[in-house]
Amino acid sequence: MKLYSAPLQGFTEAVWRNVHNSVFGGIDGYFTPFLRYEHGEIRSKDIRDVERKNNTVPNLVPQIIAATPQEMHPLMELVAKEGYNRVDINMGCSFPLQARKKHGAGLLPHPDMVAALLDAAVGYKDFAFSVKMRLGWESKEEWRALLPALNSAPLEHIAMHPRLGVEQYKKPADVEAFAEFLEACKHPVIYNGDVTSLADIQRFEQQFPSLKGIMIGRGLLANPALGIEYSLGRELPVEELCRLVQEMHDEMFAGLSPRLQGNTQFLTKMKPYWEHLLPTLPKRLRKPILKATTIEKYQVAVTTALRGFW
Ligand SMILES: Cc1cc2nc3c(=O)[nH]c(=O)nc-3n(C[C@H](O)[C@H](O)[C@H](O)COP(=O)(O)O)c2cc1C
Repeated sequence: MKLYSAPLQGFTEAVWRNVHNSVFGGIDGYFTPFLRYEHGEIRSKDIRDVERKNNTVPNLVPQIIAATPQEMHPLMELVAKEGYNRVDINMGCSFPLQARKKHGAGLLPHPDMVAALLDAAVGYKDFAFSVKMRLGWESKEEWRALLPALNSAPLEHIAMHPRLGVEQYKKPADVEAFAEFLEACKHPVIYNGDVTSLADIQRFEQQFPSLKGIMIGRGLLANPALGIEYSLGRELPVEELCRLVQEMHDEMFAGLSPRLQGNTQFLTKMKPYWEHLLPTLPKRLRKPILKATTIEKYQVAVTTALRGFW
């Protein structure tokens, strides 16, 4: 079974992906956060994130978000120009600003729009497509109306995050509904949602032996070693995990420094990782990281926390 890194806006951008892959590895494919076409343009930040010169991960798939073939086209032009031949279509994003425009999970109550988008995708002959989706926007049965279009499109896989758009992340993922989708979907299926430990990965593998793989988002931010742990079949000792987290952290600092000027920009970028990273890190070690006001104080707090943890 394969393991994939889920796209997370604000977190799994090029620097994180490159450094995660070189320091930890163990992941079969990375997906970029969604690229969007808005107000007649693609944000320069999003363009930088997919540019080949900024990416060292071999199995990188750009993800796009669009409601119509017209919105899809400029995004396809960008990824074609950068030489990609695989694209993931986002039908799962629940951010209200996107969903309101029938982007992401906002597309799920509209089978005709989904079919039009998939038809348009088939027109890009040099590309293989995959879909990342939820069960529906407000009903866990919505996927059933989409299934004919999904099943007849030549997709590489479908990654299913079995929640509803309206639930955002509140309720637990609906594994029973996932099982029904897995049964009905004719494409290879990837499970996504709330996988945070080696035991979770092994449990899903046992419960659903036909899975193509598991896609992990927040769990990989929390424990970046999950991929290696899966390939080794055991958890890493805390000491080794902390050493690798320090290495990843140092490399991210080096990768981000040329772009993020000054204390505020750097700390604003890095602190959110510590809302997820190493969830069992004692509060007394995490707090100084989150409270640091300068890069120097922040670096000392990180090193102290990673040394003090084991
Ligand atoms: C901050 C944040 C940003 C996200 N950005 C994206 C995105 O750009 N594209 C996407 O398909 N899903 C996005 N997601 C959803 C995740 O990829 C994933 O489906 C979700 O977090 C459930 O998986 P997990 O429990 O392993 O994190 C985002 C989720 C979060 C919390």
